[in-house]
Amino acid sequence: MKIYLKIWRQKDASSKGQMVNYTMDGIEGDMSFLEMLDVLNEELISKGEEPIEFDHDCREGICGTCSLQINGRPHGPDTMITACQLHMRSFKDGDTITIEPFRAKAFPVIKDLIVDRSAFDRIQQAGGYISVNTSGNTVDANAIPIEKENADDSFYAATCIGCGACVAACKNASAMLFTSAKVSQFALLPQGRVEATDRVMNMVRQMDIEGFGNCTNTGACEVECPKGISLENIARMNREYLSASVKG
Ligand code: SF4
Ligand code: FES
Repeated sequence: MKIYLKIWRQKDASSKGQMVNYTMDGIEGDMSFLEMLDVLNEELISKGEEPIEFDHDCREGICGTCSLQINGRPHGPDTMITACQLHMRSFKDGDTITIEPFRAKAFPVIKDLIVDRSAFDRIQQAGGYISVNTSGNTVDANAIPIEKENADDSFYAATCIGCGACVAACKNASAMLFTSAKVSQFALLPQGRVEATDRVMNMVRQMDIEGFGNCTNTGACEVECPKGISLENIARMNREYLSASVKG
């Protein structure tokens, strides 16, 4: 396949970026999207040009680092996958593909296609944990009975990989889906109830401090989430927040 690429190039955080055109020939449908970028980078390096910086690690949909906005959609045209799981067979000969970093005030561009998503880490640090004594007194997990439905919902919430696609998809750049998944995975389990009040208050406060926008229920986050994290989690977090606010 011959494809035409328009890729965001930005020297550093303080530079003004721009779209740059590249043409690639001989692209195989079985190549992954990131492999296609690897080939382009090899070509650029052999010509003495700077390669395109993009984030990636696991390349199997686990780590959540491959934050690419492809043809205006986080992680590209296919659903329920990350950019690293996207293959070139999803495009056709002669296509023009635009590749940009995720756009959100709370995710500033560091270079080219790489954004700083440490705001998510700080939300996690504000409450995404439980405090238990692990000094030889750990209770066997199976000793605490947990309703199957709650165990399943907690598990599904925990599959959030922190990729940021929900933020990039939202017109308000809201981080409600991410934060609610991280609140829900604990709120649904007895081990998470001990610190539930502080957790939801602190995580929501940190989310606001980081500059993410408000949720206006458009549902774009759920549609673009590669892990299918449900809007139900946002409703649960709102209930948790309301109850925590009443408790003061
Ligand atoms: S909720 Fe989905 S889109 Fe948002 S960070 Fe988690 S996995 Fe990514
Ligand atoms: S590189 Fe890890 S999810 Fe894409």
